[in-house]
Amino acid sequence: MSQEQAVRLTSLAKSAGCAAKVGPGQLSQVLGRLQRSADPRLLVGFETNDDAGVFQLTPELALVQTVDFFPPMVDDPYTFGAIAAANALSDIYAMGGTPLTALNILAFPTKTLPLEVLAEILRGGADKAAEAGVAVLGGHSVEDEVPKYGMAVTGTIHPQRILTNAGAQAGDRLLLTKRIGVGLLTTGIKRGLISPEGERAAIASMAQLNKLAGEVLARRGAHACTDITGFGLLGHLNEMARGSNLRAEIRFAAVPIFEEALALARADEAPGGTERNLAYVEQFVTFAETLDRGQRLVLADAQTSGGLLIATNEADTLKADLEAAGVTVWEIGRMVEGSGITVA
Ligand code: CO
Ligand code: CO
Ligand code: CO
Repeated sequence: MSQEQAVRLTSLAKSAGCAAKVGPGQLSQVLGRLQRSADPRLLVGFETNDDAGVFQLTPELALVQTVDFFPPMVDDPYTFGAIAAANALSDIYAMGGTPLTALNILAFPTKTLPLEVLAEILRGGADKAAEAGVAVLGGHSVEDEVPKYGMAVTGTIHPQRILTNAGAQAGDRLLLTKRIGVGLLTTGIKRGLISPEGERAAIASMAQLNKLAGEVLARRGAHACTDITGFGLLGHLNEMARGSNLRAEIRFAAVPIFEEALALARADEAPGGTERNLAYVEQFVTFAETLDRGQRLVLADAQTSGGLLIATNEADTLKADLEAAGVTVWEIGRMVEGSGITVA
């Protein structure tokens, strides 16, 4: 793939202005007006902003379904495909489910980009699905000036073992399985502001499946779980706190952050989505006065294919099991009585 072709991927996304212009608050207002299905087999719908929907088939078996797609955040089409697939699969793992099948969702400008780029995006997605043990059954594509790619994923889960973002209990400890800051880093890549090592680390983090962590969670359980994506750590933490009627307390020093992401945030080089996330969550968050704007921004950074955020009363055994499975895990805080979020 020539550099010329590749560079056009993210610049196309930018020129058409398709970076999300809708803030997290606005979006949930609109979604909140939709009517939940009255079908009693619907176990988890969209009303709790959970990662995926769950529909019961038998007393022992439920379907778990999700869909995610977006414009390129990296220039290499194969890498974009792999990241989009890892991101879509993540919502199944975050519910404690096992993904089985996927359908490609694709928008592509066949008149302005070579079909070779399209083939590479799909190959990246297919390889990532294969790594997850997921069969790609087909998909749907449309012509669009901005490429977009993702997957609709279907999995299974036991109806009594669903992990929602709303089940945390007071005293639970909070675990996180990936560093945060990839939104800042991908913006830094586009602006030529980060090191090759920083770029490689961001891409490796986004392309990494949450499979190993998800398998441990499905086996051991937890009180609540979600994956960190577009609303950032604080946005997803806020949903967990609100859904569980609790307060989240985290320590900034305990949160794993890509160093270069923090430097970019402090240099006022944050993506628009991250700025909007912080503006939205500030009403729920009490920050220690010592935390500067860069530190606050990085906690709100819009992630693509972020890690799992887990609330559990068995943090020591869960951490040990995650580490034994090869998952890096950080303890970042706990859930307490109250509401909102405190960052110390
Ligand atoms: Co999610
Ligand atoms: Co999602
Ligand atoms: Co969930």
